Amino acid sequence: MADDKIRQLIASCSEKDTVMKGDLWLSPDKSAAVYTARSAGFCFGVQRALDTVYEQIGSGCAPIYTYGPIIHNEIVVEDLEKKGVRVIETRQELESLEEGTVIIRSHGVSRDIYELLEKKNLHVVDATCPFVKKIHRIVEQKGNEGYEIVITGSAVHPEVEGIRGWCTGEVTVVETEDEARLYKPKTDKNLCIVSQTTFNLKKFHKFVEIIRGLSYHETAVLNTICNATEERQTEARSIANLADAMIVIGGKHSSNTQKLYEICRKECSNTFFVQTFDDLNLRLVPFRGIVGISAGASTPNILIEEVSKLCRKTILNRC
Ligand code: F3S
Repeated sequence: MADDKIRQLIASCSEKDTVMKGDLWLSPDKSAAVYTARSAGFCFGVQRALDTVYEQIGSGCAPIYTYGPIIHNEIVVEDLEKKGVRVIETRQELESLEEGTVIIRSHGVSRDIYELLEKKNLHVVDATCPFVKKIHRIVEQKGNEGYEIVITGSAVHPEVEGIRGWCTGEVTVVETEDEARLYKPKTDKNLCIVSQTTFNLKKFHKFVEIIRGLSYHETAVLNTICNATEERQTEARSIANLADAMIVIGGKHSSNTQKLYEICRKECSNTFFVQTFDDLNLRLVPFRGIVGISAGASTPNILIEEVSKLCRKTILNRC
């Protein structure tokens, strides 16, 4: 017999306005469920970047380089390497290139990288996500208007390094609540706050509130967190809240997967971070109840399906 939580899950999936429209599998007696979030897996920007790389491979041009791994998923990057796509890790490596196609990944790069590529006369294919491009334009424009910029996010993340590289004046990156509280403006100019696209929305609002508490002439707040991230986080939170066990799939270097894991862990203490189904120790997963599955923006569907299949087989006795 379905228990209350499973009834609630079934009802959520069929409600018109719910965020939960994923893939629901039930055991024959409806006492166990495996539910994969609709928003799990590639976001628009990552899919677009990856399609761009495969298009370039298909067009026969060589050599092909990506500036940084095209996505934070080792399995996909290794597959591309086998097809001849090399990853350039540093500016120095880029400087030493004499020919070829350089694909800029969805995270984007700073202005000086474009200038270098132009100077070297390399063929550039820009797969920067349009939502990231928009942030570049905002910080450049606001900087030109005399605003000091604050970016909420991780200073060492390539997306944030890229955004910094479009700022024309003073810029500070704030990642933690302590950093927000300790933030001191470097100028007496107006302030503009933007965010890394994958930053946690609640934290963003909190940091804005803290920084706004300081006195400025004017603070322009532009929530540049991507909807894909917001949707994925909201859906994962709702599932984890009902789940007896939650599985988050993604590359170990993927910051959006890490954040997803943290969000789910708050709702469900049995939350597991796995890269592939090999990492999944099913002895840890309860054999009754709800098992939820979500995945970061750079997790291929095939990996999600493999994990789901394993859960269905083991927990529901179904494939
Ligand atoms: Fe773009 Fe949003 Fe994905 S910014 S890369 S669509 S998470």
